[in-house]
Amino acid sequence: MIGRLNHVAIAVPDLEAAASQYRDVLGATVGSPQDEPAHGVRVVFVDLPNTKVEFLHPLGEDSPIAAFLARHPAGGIHHVCYEVGDIVAARDHLLQHGARVLGDGTPKIGAHGQPVLFLHPKDFTGTLIELEQVA
Ligand code: CO
Repeated sequence: MIGRLNHVAIAVPDLEAAASQYRDVLGATVGSPQDEPAHGVRVVFVDLPNTKVEFLHPLGEDSPIAAFLARHPAGGIHHVCYEVGDIVAARDHLLQHGARVLGDGTPKIGAHGQPVLFLHPKDFTGTLIELEQVA
């Protein structure tokens, strides 16, 4: 059901420091910051030949990333994102297998303009999973 690894998301306390480190020290192709108010995050994408890294920084008062950074002040891996062909079919399959989908189960539009859902980390080896529908 899951396809390619779309991105690994890393929560960072300093977005510009993370972006310049990946650009200048690791030699990666790093994009410009984008605000995602619906998700309470400011993001920077790093394009790698086979996948992406997504830096996440809190945006606004009740960003889910603020609590994560409070527990991990130096930053850390926040989630991994796998691609699926049909996100509603994937959700229904997961619910049938007892997995918990976060929120009300309705896909939201993610940072790439595609529908996304998040799965409870306790159901998946302690890792928050994002599913993104890719046509
Ligand atoms: Co993501």
